[in-house]
Amino acid sequence: MRILVTGGAGYIGSHTVIELLEMGYDVITLDNLQKGHREAISGGEFVKVDLLNKNELEDVFKNSKIDAVVHFAADSLVGESVENPSKYFKSNMIASLNLLDAMLKYDVKKIVFSSSAAVYGEPDRIPIQENNKTFPTNPYGETKLMFENAIKWYDNAYGIKYVSLRYFNAAGAHISGKIGEDHAPESHLIPIVLQAVLGQRPHVQIFGTDYETKDGTCVRDYIHITDLAMAHILALKRLEKGGDSAIYNLGNGEGFSVREIIKVAEKVTGKKINTKDTPRRAGDPAVLIATSEKIKKELNWAPKYNDINTIVETAWKWHKSNPKGFKTS
Ligand code: UFG
Repeated sequence: MRILVTGGAGYIGSHTVIELLEMGYDVITLDNLQKGHREAISGGEFVKVDLLNKNELEDVFKNSKIDAVVHFAADSLVGESVENPSKYFKSNMIASLNLLDAMLKYDVKKIVFSSSAAVYGEPDRIPIQENNKTFPTNPYGETKLMFENAIKWYDNAYGIKYVSLRYFNAAGAHISGKIGEDHAPESHLIPIVLQAVLGQRPHVQIFGTDYETKDGTCVRDYIHITDLAMAHILALKRLEKGGDSAIYNLGNGEGFSVREIIKVAEKVTGKKINTKDTPRRAGDPAVLIATSEKIKKELNWAPKYNDINTIVETAWKWHKSNPKGFKTS
């Protein structure tokens, strides 16, 4: 099976490429390298293409018989999406529609899509099930939901089968320490906390201490990046076997507050972390916890690294040996 992985040089994409190669898939990674890292791609073929460039995108399909697509390429900063929706509708919607149309033209009928808990917005009940109300509260979540809807109608009209995976908080790094999380600028809690441990930041800002949660800080469901990656392989297998389209949540079903994450990081690193209480970050829901029973039941997804200490330990292994990320490692 030849798999096209868009955004395969990014955090979640690169961890999925490693697992695909390990499982014997033939992988072609497509990335515009605006945010991704060439060094993060552990093997297979690579093409530097932007999905907004229709001609170059079509050439990829023309030059190589692709059996299925795993689609990660996207912009993914919630705050930026509120300030610059135009960027998000272009890179997450128009670019993704180019991909779907190229798939149609070259008769590729299987796609695994990188969706997000952001499609739910402020959840109407916890834990969040796939049939919770979807009501995104920012353009990032809106574009993810719009693309989920687009593929539903492409399935209806043209028979493109899809699996949409709604990730909760992806975290940690490959167990080998070879690849990990490297965003610029960094906005995610665990890497920020570890940067503080490394002395790269004076303190960690705690965005909001007056939420109705166990300690007043936001609660999230952290899922190890390799467990997330493995779910993509199970999704591909479902499609390979002729399975129908589906939507699944991916989380561990357990919520940790910002303060709890900082405590875990202090334990894992053996260092005291300075914090500073600051006002809430706009658009942050108080609690996001998934139930992933559906994917466990239907695809036998069985997370291996679901202990929060292990998640933070793998992140620490990567950050400690690559304090400046990929470029200087
Ligand atoms: N936080 C801080 N200080 C920081 C960074 C984060 O207190 O310096 C808090 C946030 O307010 C939030 C929690 O830590 O409560 C986790 O924040 P992240 O930025 O790590 O993750 P989010 O939950 O905001 O975002 C994740 C994904 C997004 C996705 C979103 C869905 O990273 O891509 O879930 O709601 F859109």
